[in-house]
Amino acid sequence: MKDPRLFYKSYLMFANFQKFLQLNQQEFGDFYQYKGLVNFFFVHDLKQVKRVLLGTNKSFSKKTNLVRNLHNALGESIIISEYEKWKPRRKLLNPSFTKKNSLSLFSLMKIKISETIDEINQQIQDKEYFITNVSPIFNRLIINIIGMAFFNKDFDKHTGNIEHWLNNMRSYVENPPIPFLSNPNTPTLANLKMKRNKKRLLSFVKDIIEERKSSGVEYNDLLGRILKETSEDTETDLKGDELVMEVLNLIVAGHETTANTISWTLYYLTKNPDVYKKLQKEIDTSFGQNDPSSKKVMELQYLDCVLKETMRLVPAAWIFTRKSKEDMVFNEKNLKKDSTIIFCPILIHKDKRLWKNPEAYAPERFLPENKDKIQPDSYIPFGGGQRTCIGLHLAMIEMKITLVMILQKFEFLKNTAFKPKIKYSITTYSENGIELGIKRRS
Ligand code: HEM
Repeated sequence: MKDPRLFYKSYLMFANFQKFLQLNQQEFGDFYQYKGLVNFFFVHDLKQVKRVLLGTNKSFSKKTNLVRNLHNALGESIIISEYEKWKPRRKLLNPSFTKKNSLSLFSLMKIKISETIDEINQQIQDKEYFITNVSPIFNRLIINIIGMAFFNKDFDKHTGNIEHWLNNMRSYVENPPIPFLSNPNTPTLANLKMKRNKKRLLSFVKDIIEERKSSGVEYNDLLGRILKETSEDTETDLKGDELVMEVLNLIVAGHETTANTISWTLYYLTKNPDVYKKLQKEIDTSFGQNDPSSKKVMELQYLDCVLKETMRLVPAAWIFTRKSKEDMVFNEKNLKKDSTIIFCPILIHKDKRLWKNPEAYAPERFLPENKDKIQPDSYIPFGGGQRTCIGLHLAMIEMKITLVMILQKFEFLKNTAFKPKIKYSITTYSENGIELGIKRRS
């Protein structure tokens, strides 16, 4: 490890954090200590990354200074909570997110996707095609799917508000985590706005939960299962406002991540006609224009590879931060308790030493016959260890059925004039959306 440097390329830190990390990695290698506007250890070595992922809870915590704003906005939830708080919650929520239970939401998802197809058809009218930003279409769709899958509720009327509140929250989290200003009790404009916004979101979720409880009806949706588990479980404190906050966290974690991955996939398909053709063929051969069954959708091999490849190039969770819970020797260096550690899927997934032709969009690399060529732990879109994404089955199902149904009906066209402006925020998204042409398939 080279000597730690002060403020190397700090000017880039807030403007382009990914570039900043990339340049520092080029300069200082796969493990370095950064002392600057914030102090952290950067880790890129897969063995160490694995150690941190597997050691999260016991030796590492997710509650770092860098996610202070996220913590302010989302509270002490399953996403960032410490082990003692996290364990009973994860245990309680796990059964609702098994593959089987996630698949049981398939029909509800299809209802909302069909409505999105109707909306797109209305926009096309009798035109040959139209050019549009597809991101809001899939953001709305995923909010609507969440409404159905989580609450058996039509969010249609509320989609605009929810999107607005979630966007406000994202803007707040994008603020740099400057110690005094990020204290939620400091009356800055940003903090006051965040609190107002959080109150609105919480009251929206609270009303739904109250309405459900007072109806006395048992639904087999996500909320129904969570309420059933909480009423039977005595180990957890997941009641009242804590329950509301937890449900809100699930909405946040499951929304942008999934919606953005769908939009990015369509973007890459239009940029890679051979991949697009191959996927379209797989879908057409399996279903034609027939209603797709969950079993068959989940068996589509190339679709699986396509989604994996999108998440390699644009992993929704592009950065992981952890804090050491004790003094330790880490990569032959003494690491003090409370040191911040950073590693980045966005850099690991594009490392020339780990991936052949890493900038190319090549889903074939995930085919079973090529699996041996992928180095263990070099692909971490859903994280790893005990804190692996709880919604990974749900997300994969949502993304697969959406792509199948949408690609059965429409052809997406590259808009040569468009270039996405990639932004690394809570998730990886395009600031100027994803502009594509959409044409009805004949
Ligand atoms: C493409 C979609 C998604 C991606 C790429 C993704 C990615 C991730 C990653 C990387 C983590 C671990 C972060 C870390 O260790 O620091 C995570 C955690 C989490 N995700 Fe997802 N996620 C997606 C969809 C979802 C969905 C649909 C839900 C639920 C509705 C969800 C709920 C969560 C929760 C609750 C955690 C925290 C788990 C814990 O700490 O125990 N995610 N996600």
